[in-house]
Amino acid sequence: MNGSTPHIVQYQGSKRMLAPKILPYMPKHFSRLVEPFAGMAAISIAAAKQDRANSYVINDVNGAVVDILQMAIESPSKLYEEYRKVWLSQFDYPEGHVNHFYKIRDEYNNGDRSAAKMLYLIARCVKGSIRYDNNGKFNQSPDKRRNGTSPNTLKQNIEAISYFLKDRTSFFSVDYHDILDMTIPGDIVYLDPPYQGTSNVRDSRYISGVDFNDFVKAIEHLNKKNVDFIISYDGSCGDKQYGKELPKELELEKVLLNAGWSSQSILLGKRETTFEALYISRGLQQRTPVTHTFHPEHIQYSLFNPVTA
Ligand SMILES: C[S@@+](CC[C@H](N)C(=O)[O-])C[C@H]1O[C@@H](n2cnc3c(N)ncnc32)[C@H](O)[C@@H]1O
Repeated sequence: MNGSTPHIVQYQGSKRMLAPKILPYMPKHFSRLVEPFAGMAAISIAAAKQDRANSYVINDVNGAVVDILQMAIESPSKLYEEYRKVWLSQFDYPEGHVNHFYKIRDEYNNGDRSAAKMLYLIARCVKGSIRYDNNGKFNQSPDKRRNGTSPNTLKQNIEAISYFLKDRTSFFSVDYHDILDMTIPGDIVYLDPPYQGTSNVRDSRYISGVDFNDFVKAIEHLNKKNVDFIISYDGSCGDKQYGKELPKELELEKVLLNAGWSSQSILLGKRETTFEALYISRGLQQRTPVTHTFHPEHIQYSLFNPVTA
């Protein structure tokens, strides 16, 4: 199948657009791709589309996200039918489509944990960003300009995703440490933790935080076990650097991927390019020569959006 990588719904922090720049750092074929911070699993989907791995492990501490992915992959028709019903009902809701969002949000928060309802909430909410209050209730507001992904678009996308991933994907919703404990040499682990700026436990943008020192220890452990991995970890925009560097002792190679113009700086009347950092494990640096054939400073400039500064 040609064309862009199918996706279920716009999700904050999704690596869908960067996937074509990340996949070249993985071997052409390997046994298992493990995503401990899967979100909407853009990298697993893109890798499966290219038939890179024999099997896939999808995990996210947010079980609601994993439920959507599992249903999309294992029962796409059921997810489509249920989503279609919820989506269509916004148009004849007497109090209008914005209030319809609040009604579905209340139903979800009051215990109706249907994957189709959560999908509708993500599809209709501001920036596709899941937020919870201190009591664990979904509290993101609706994007008033959007009706959410149409059921037909969803159908096409989830049928494709299911075709690529069905019968070779296992699903978990646990803390990333438990997933890393399961990994063995031969696996490729893709880690995309929440941005450091947003990753303390109190931040409502993510359901759980990731402590920097714990994360470094977990990576050290992967190195000791000889498990290969790729980490997306913050980056820079203009002269602003986000997040701490991962320590040199981990022997990682850092690559900066051009993620395009920063929408925030465009709003401020500036044109600044955002770079997202990718850290490649020791073993992969030898297995995937691409890291050494790009730019000498390991800054990979996008062919379509060259940096002139
Ligand atoms: C940057 S997003 C991943 C986006 C993903 N790469 C994609 O393309 O959609 C980070 C994810 O990590 C999850 N997360 C946060 N803390 C976690 C933890 N301790 N263990 C596992 N997942 C966690 C969040 O729920 C969020 O979905």
